[in-house]
Amino acid sequence: MNNSTFLRALSREQNKVPPIWFMRQAGRYLPEYQKIRRSYKNFLDMCKEPKICAELALQPIERFDLDASILFSDILTIPDAFDLGLAFHEGEGPKFSNPISHPADISKLKGFEIEKLSYVYKAVEETKKILPSNLPLIGFCGSPWTLAAYSIEGGGSKDFAKTKKFISEHPQAAEDYLEIMTDACFQYLKQQVLCGVNALQIFDSWADLLNPNDLETYSLIFTRKLAKKLKEDLATSNIPIILFEKAPQKDISDIAFDDLSCISLHWSESIQVTAAKLKNRFTLQGNLNPSFLLESDEVIQAETQKICNAMQNFPGFIFNLGHGITPDIKPEKVQVMIDAVRA
Ligand code: CP3
Repeated sequence: MNNSTFLRALSREQNKVPPIWFMRQAGRYLPEYQKIRRSYKNFLDMCKEPKICAELALQPIERFDLDASILFSDILTIPDAFDLGLAFHEGEGPKFSNPISHPADISKLKGFEIEKLSYVYKAVEETKKILPSNLPLIGFCGSPWTLAAYSIEGGGSKDFAKTKKFISEHPQAAEDYLEIMTDACFQYLKQQVLCGVNALQIFDSWADLLNPNDLETYSLIFTRKLAKKLKEDLATSNIPIILFEKAPQKDISDIAFDDLSCISLHWSESIQVTAAKLKNRFTLQGNLNPSFLLESDEVIQAETQKICNAMQNFPGFIFNLGHGITPDIKPEKVQVMIDAVRA
């Protein structure tokens, strides 16, 4: 792994050519993914097949020769392990049949049973077996806040009104649930590390729902606790942690904290401005708007080069998208972006 440009970048070393991987790199935009996906009615059943997960994680590596691989799984495995009854319905996204609707739903939860997610740890082992030996594997989880938002809302939503109402009416119960999620995330990530992942990414995909005060109270306090637990445990203390905050209503330099190695920037933020603030303190990852991949090759090349030029002398830069790739993007367009990074 010594020669991994991705791991070097996470140690804030400069690479001649920036390493590249991207959020949701294995998924519905790939025809080879669709081919396997068709054999499963339920997405979660597919996630429970470690050998299939390994094969899916390898697909974008084989097609694009990327510099890092990400575990094939989902952030919602943790709430599912608390028996909230997760299902993915066609065209609708995730739904919980047994969401957190009342504080009593939290007090009656059983503790986190780490073995319920053994299919994920096995997927890590199977993926490590088939990945090129010098290619790092990223493990991940949702932030406690993002997991709580899905658990309370019962699925995705435009405004997460139910979740916002719950935290304003039951702040203590919300914090209790966030504490439970924090501990589960720690145990889950630790197990991924013990099985072989080389870096960790925490997805705070619903950071944008919270005003600056609530972002601190309901999200950042718990993400910091999670990172601290990882840094204090011998098994995980050396593993770099990447944090993705989706469009937070707070300056990213007021969010970044010492236990992190890297900030993954949403596309709505200026990587150039952030770089000036965070230089020599954090690696930066990002942040092409994935919707540029629906445009002409020339636009893709120009927008990719803008980011690479801005980050040319930055110690520790990883090229990525500013959020997950969407199913409507053609793999050929991804190749145009990659060629532009490596040109
Ligand atoms: O290469 C990879 O990144 C694959 C592994 C991966 C998946 N989900 C597979 C997946 C990862 C890292 C995730 C993270 C994830 N899951 C996040 C954080 C990143 C982000 O986008 O903000 C979130 C919020 C989820 C929750 C989730 N999972 C949703 C909302 C959905 C449905 C709609 C959508 O966005 O795709 C999923 C399903 C899901 N997770 C799919 C995949 C490949 C599609 C399932 C299908 O084929 O039907």
